[in-house]
Amino acid sequence: MSDTKYDYIDKEIIERIEYFRSRGHRVPKLSMIKTPEQIEGIRASGVINTGVLDLVASEIHAGMSTLEIDKLVHDYTLDHGAVPAPLNYEGFPKSVCTSINEVVCHGIPNEFDILEEGDIINVDVSTIYNGYYSDASRMFVIGAAKPRVQRLVDVAREALRVGEDEAQPYAFLGNIGHAIDGLARKNHFSVVTDFCGHGVGLEFHEEPEVEHVGIRNRGMLIVPGMVFTIEPMLNMGVPDVFIDEEDGWTVVTEDEKPSAQWEHTIVITRDGHEVLTY
Ligand code: MF3
Ligand code: CO
Repeated sequence: MSDTKYDYIDKEIIERIEYFRSRGHRVPKLSMIKTPEQIEGIRASGVINTGVLDLVASEIHAGMSTLEIDKLVHDYTLDHGAVPAPLNYEGFPKSVCTSINEVVCHGIPNEFDILEEGDIINVDVSTIYNGYYSDASRMFVIGAAKPRVQRLVDVAREALRVGEDEAQPYAFLGNIGHAIDGLARKNHFSVVTDFCGHGVGLEFHEEPEVEHVGIRNRGMLIVPGMVFTIEPMLNMGVPDVFIDEEDGWTVVTEDEKPSAQWEHTIVITRDGHEVLTY
């Protein structure tokens, strides 16, 4: 490739990509490899994003509305010179996604959803800072949940961890999904396949898609400089979901059993990966 646009990418990385391409593997476009400067920009965005989630963690309580969570997220983000990425994204009306119990993802904060003892909620925060995007979510348990519900939350967190472990240079995206789905199945939970992780950094959602089920040594080659999210959604019951027709956003489990999700933004390094949203 004679394109000087990608001069920042090590020759060795390009050679290894060409090698895997010649062996019939799917490989990333060079545009999916971030510059060191871009990675530092995404890291700085991730610091604010983590600050938002830490604030939510310290403030969340029974009796609080999801609209109050939205206000915390919105105000903290603006106070730190950043912009909440969800706000007005493809028409999304609020600054954060709040997804309670059977809501899988993309729940819209509102004054009528009041957190109750025993609820589980995913708070999905995405930040634009200096033009760079970061994206992470956590589960919060309000008081004590039923043991099987708490287990769902814990296994979903572990699913993110085992997925991260597979995010290694010159491995394949299919390994991530394989590890996540394997852990979910072992625990008799299901994995949602209608939504994926994604490249992130210069835009909210970039290539590639990061699937949460997969086949080992299949899918796209992972190379240093790629930045993407892993964000497995695990369901207590069936993996099927539907979208609320009224708001066009809220994703709900078909059987209305609970769902749990955790998400991080990670960067692939020369010898492993780094989480940019701790
Ligand atoms: N934060 C979600 C993700 O993890 C995307 C939400 S899109 C929104 O990719 F518009 F609902 F915010
Ligand atoms: Co995401």
